[in-house]
Amino acid sequence: MTWLITGGAGYIGAHVARAMTDAGERVLALDDLSAGIPARLPADVPLVRGSSLDAGLLKRVLAEHGVTGVVHLAARKQVAESVARPTRYYQENVGGLATLLEAVAEAGIERFLFSSSAAVYGNPDVELITEDTPCGPVNPYGETKLTGEWLVRAAGQAHGISTVCLRYFNVAGAAAPELADTGVFNIVPMVFDRLTRDEAPRIFGDDYPTPDGTCIRDYIHVADLAEAHLAAARRLGDRSGDLTVNIGRGEGVSVREMVTVIGEVTGDRRPAVVEPRRPGDAPVSVASAARAAEELGWTARRGVREMIESAWQGWRTHHAG
Ligand SMILES: NC(=O)c1ccc[n+]([C@@H]2O[C@H](COP(=O)([O-])OP(=O)(O)OC[C@H]3O[C@@H](n4cnc5c(N)ncnc54)[C@H](O)[C@@H]3O)[C@@H](O)[C@H]2O)c1
Repeated sequence: MTWLITGGAGYIGAHVARAMTDAGERVLALDDLSAGIPARLPADVPLVRGSSLDAGLLKRVLAEHGVTGVVHLAARKQVAESVARPTRYYQENVGGLATLLEAVAEAGIERFLFSSSAAVYGNPDVELITEDTPCGPVNPYGETKLTGEWLVRAAGQAHGISTVCLRYFNVAGAAAPELADTGVFNIVPMVFDRLTRDEAPRIFGDDYPTPDGTCIRDYIHVADLAEAHLAAARRLGDRSGDLTVNIGRGEGVSVREMVTVIGEVTGDRRPAVVEPRRPGDAPVSVASAARAAEELGWTARRGVREMIESAWQGWRTHHAG
């Protein structure tokens, strides 16, 4: 097998590339480097610089490298930017996927894994989100992921491609400092950023209907997530058809609890300031992890403290000096 990982120089893509090469798979990365960092990739993983929108390049790469399976992570992922620039998000996330699937079908590739997101659910009013919970994305980013899932399934059926859509919940941590997320788009780097600036962490709303009043999320260590990709890649070889799976721990952690652990790990325990709720934040978003265990034989092993400790090491490496 030779796997093409699109978005392979990204935060999650580089973790997936490492987990797959460590497991003995042959891997190749494609990335336009709009957000990727080539040095994240293992030395034995070739990087093709280019876009998932470039049909000619995709055709050439799939043929020249004898690609037999694709893990598609390349996408734009900022919710606020997707609200401001929806056409760009549909073009990159849906257009890029359509172009890639066309090339995959033409090349006769039979295995395809798609990076989806809990954003497809929107804000469902349930304690545990199962894969059968109705989807209702509340921003263009989530819409592009849901549309992407539909496209992946339809193309799979039309062209005999075995497909898996993984719906990631809140990803955090790093398997090594140099692989850490450099963006400041979710709670862990946002709190690190505040502390580094000598400012108090911010909590957006403490009047939600939850035990401590702050929002509850399901955090997943990126190294566990990478292992889930490996399990899914193997599953693609064993069975045909399509599968959609939540990737989370099935455990909720509140924003206030996260801020407390970040204080313990960084040694900076200054109290958070509470600001008004942000529009669109669901009170609770926690995955049912049952299908992943059943269908992929995969369960997350790492906890929140390990996520925050590894993310902090990564943050300090990237922000040294
Ligand atoms: N990080 C999260 O919490 C999270 C949660 C749910 C889903 N996801 C999904 O996981 C995937 C990876 O996310 P990430 O956190 O690693 O983000 P990231 O920005 O670090 O990685 C995305 C990579 O794709 C590349 N890229 C973007 N558009 C491209 C294109 N058209 N052609 C080629 N390369 C392109 C970027 O340069 C980057 O290296 C995305 O599809 C994202 O939507 C991420």
